[in-house]
Amino acid sequence: MNKIAVAGKGGVGKTTLAALLARIYAGRGQSVIAVDADPAACLGFALGLPPELQTQVTPISEMDALIEERTGAKTGTYGTYFKLNPRVDDIPERFCVQYQGVRLLRLGTIDQGGSGCICPESAMLKALVSYLILHRDEMLILDMDAGLEHLGRATAGAVDYFLVVVEPGKRSMETAHQIARLAADIGIRRVGLVGNKVRSQNDRDFIIHNSGDLPVFGYLSYHPEAIQADQDGASVYHAVPQLAQEAEVIADALLAAVA
Ligand SMILES: Nc1ncnc2c1ncn2[C@@H]1O[C@H](COP(=O)(O)OP(=O)(O)OP(=O)(O)O)[C@@H](O)[C@H]1O
Ligand SMILES: [Mg+2]
Repeated sequence: MNKIAVAGKGGVGKTTLAALLARIYAGRGQSVIAVDADPAACLGFALGLPPELQTQVTPISEMDALIEERTGAKTGTYGTYFKLNPRVDDIPERFCVQYQGVRLLRLGTIDQGGSGCICPESAMLKALVSYLILHRDEMLILDMDAGLEHLGRATAGAVDYFLVVVEPGKRSMETAHQIARLAADIGIRRVGLVGNKVRSQNDRDFIIHNSGDLPVFGYLSYHPEAIQADQDGASVYHAVPQLAQEAEVIADALLAAVA
């Protein structure tokens, strides 16, 4: 078990969970690559990267020269000929920034010319995500947004866990079910929920009652220190030990469920 994608409604705690899991598995001696696939990139902050490393994390989508070299077309062009399977196997080694045993790669944003657009940048990112999921051995933690645009059918089947983070509220549960349906439609096998910002047994019950047929892999409690850590750009794992402990339980549950 080593390819984990984290999704969910805006602000539910995807980046928090992704950073915690990355740190935990790295701490257990696993080789971990954390991929920031959310346009509003902040995984580096949640991992506590110092500013000088943070500035080294250049989004792949902004590497115009590299994308042109690999796809044969300039970024921002549509309707031109370009390679749909550009070479990407050297990208992790060249562009990952390593910190405390976690290697971080940031995909970046694409100026979409309509949803589902195919442009050199999107071909590059899709090829990269496919490569990371299908052809690499290390543990992958993919911090996504609510969309699934980087995952295609060919790759979806190799995702071991698709975690949808939910808060104990109707709107995030509703979004979670929509995302889970999309994930199942493209062939992702294990889709489940992680409850976050849980304050009481009532909150847990709410999530269970609204989970439908989705398994709940675990819970993270509401800790105000997490907000402070976010404001400080501090590693959530180190700043909020209670959250780290709860995430350890989730990390174990994930391993146990596929064993
Ligand atoms: N368990 C928690 N307790 C308290 N605050 C939390 C908790 N988890 C996350 N937060 C806070 O909620 C905010 C959003 O968290 P986070 O950035 O992880 O969410 P996200 O789903 O990645 O958001 P986005 O959709 O913007 O990428 C942050 O300020 C974070 O510190
Ligand atoms: Mg995020």
